Order: sequence, then C-alpha cells, then structure tokens
Amino acid sequence: MRIQPIDLYARRNAQMGINMRHLMSSMDFSVEELDQLFDLANDIEKHMDKYAHACAGKKLATCFYEPSTRTRLSFESAMLNLGGSVLGFSDANSSSAAKGESVADTIRVISCFADICAMRHPKEGAPMVAAGRSSIPVINAGDGGHQHPTQTLTDLLTIRSLKGRLDSFTIGLCGDLKFGRTVHSLINALSRYEGMKFIFISPNELRVPDYVTDMLKEKNIPYEEVIRLEDIMPKLDLLYMTRVQKERFFNEEDYVRLKDFYILDKTKMELAGPDMLVLHPLPRVNEISVEVDDDPRAVYFKQVQYGVYVRMALILTLLNIKVD
Ligand code: CP
Repeated sequence: MRIQPIDLYARRNAQMGINMRHLMSSMDFSVEELDQLFDLANDIEKHMDKYAHACAGKKLATCFYEPSTRTRLSFESAMLNLGGSVLGFSDANSSSAAKGESVADTIRVISCFADICAMRHPKEGAPMVAAGRSSIPVINAGDGGHQHPTQTLTDLLTIRSLKGRLDSFTIGLCGDLKFGRTVHSLINALSRYEGMKFIFISPNELRVPDYVTDMLKEKNIPYEEVIRLEDIMPKLDLLYMTRVQKERFFNEEDYVRLKDFYILDKTKMELAGPDMLVLHPLPRVNEISVEVDDDPRAVYFKQVQYGVYVRMALILTLLNIKVD
C-alpha cells in the first residue's frame, strides 16, 4: 500500500524548462508553502468577489473513476467561483476507461481539453502515473486507500482557521484507520508540526498501517493505540471521526461486523472538553449520531465550506495566477 513519492515528472519538466507542479500528497508542499496557501484561502473566504474572474478562460477537468460528492463538486464549485469552466466525468463507465483506455493515455487526451485536472481513482498511484504523462497540473483527488491530499488541506485549513494554529494538539483519529486514506494523509501532514500527539482509536482489524506508526517512531512523535473511544475523550483537543470504508473490504461479513463499532453520540460528547472539535471528512454513515450535529464543537459541515476555499487557493497556486 505504501507508495513512494516520485519526482520523475518534476525532473522531466525541469529538464524541459516547464515550471509546472502537481499535487500528489500534502507533503508536496513545504510547511511554509502550506501557510501561504491557507493565507490565500482565508483571503478568498473574506473577499470572494476579488477572485470572481481570476480563472476566466481556464478549464478544470474532473476525472473521477470512483464515486464522490464533496471532492468533485467542491472542485467544480471552486473553479466556477474563480470564473473558470469545468468538464469531466464522474464514473469510469461513462469514460473510455470502460473500453480499456489507460490512465496515461486519458491524461494526454485531457491535457488537450483542459488547463488543470483533478483525478480520483480506486488504484493507489494512478494519479501519479497520470502526472508522469501530463502536460497540465494533476491533483490527486483520492487514490485507493493511499492518499487524499486535498481533504488534508481542507482539514488543516479548518483546524488552523478555528483554532488559530496547527501545532501542539492531542488528536484522536477514530474508526477505519486501515483503509481510510484521509487519515493517512492527515497524519503525515500533522507530523510536521511541533508538539503533536496522536491517539489511534480503532478495532484491531482496522488499525493504522505499520508504515504510518514506523514514520512516527522515526520522528519520535508520541502516539497511542486504543480500542475504547470513551476512555480518551477527555484528553482530546481534536477528534477526527471516519467511516468504515465498505468499498475496500474483501468480505461483506467483516464489514457488517465492524461498521457500527463506533458511534459518537451526545453521551460520549459529554466526556469531552468544551473546546474539543469534531471533524469528519464525510460522508458519514452511522459513526456520528445526528444529535451531535447541533453541538458547536461539531465542525464537519464547516469543514466542507473550507474545502471550497482551499481548492480555490490550490487551483490559483498550481496555475500560477496571482490576484492583487
Ligand atoms: N471527503 C470526501 O472525499 O468525500 P467524497 O467521497 O464525497 O468526495
């Protein structure tokens, strides 16, 4: 499952004198670059009108080989907010992938139609393959159980905007830590900030992969693995809930056994501090009871709105468009 970052495309573009960046992982941006991106996203939030024509004449292609509501529509909303246009497909079966076309060929074709592409694919590494063949910036919009960098940018912007910082938190990540790509991306990203402590809350079958804990050990970042959510609620500054990823299970029986392992409800929320924030990449299934939605600490719908601002900032950044 672990995919090593490749920089073949970056090297090739540098050799050809092309100053083009893709986004495959949130680690592709330095902490300083992320700060600039989040400053831009916060400026967009405050002065939306200023950016209304920034991408006039530009086109975003959304190539989604896997289902999505938020990521695809958030990208499309972001480009439309910037005055650009969108095209694409939301189902592999309505694209020529159904006839056997490779991702590498598809992106060469899409490069003739659009200025930037957001791609989601069930196979780990597929957007990297596309980036290696693309003449336009490619954004990984989720590849299998591997990475989901724009969700991570959304999560970081939400935390930074609501808490005022990105360091010195105890964060609990709860649910499907094995298949949840948003979790893997977020742990990587937060591991670069000082004073972080991770608490992984999952059943044994859905524990965070070893390569993630190995990375934390290498960096001397403290973490705990626990099974009961109730026990650690009072310790948390942030709680990141996730759904059990039905589509990545090999057998239905295991999914049914594990799907309702955690349900965050009002009673559990009473155990948490008054400032603890609850995040969730969504979609939610049963893991957060709807009665929690009205709790001011539940910020998962605010998170969706931050996702539009950060994707607007990302499109501008990758297209090298500056707005004064
Ligand atoms: N958070 C997220 O990736 O949602 P979608 O699957 O709806 O895009």
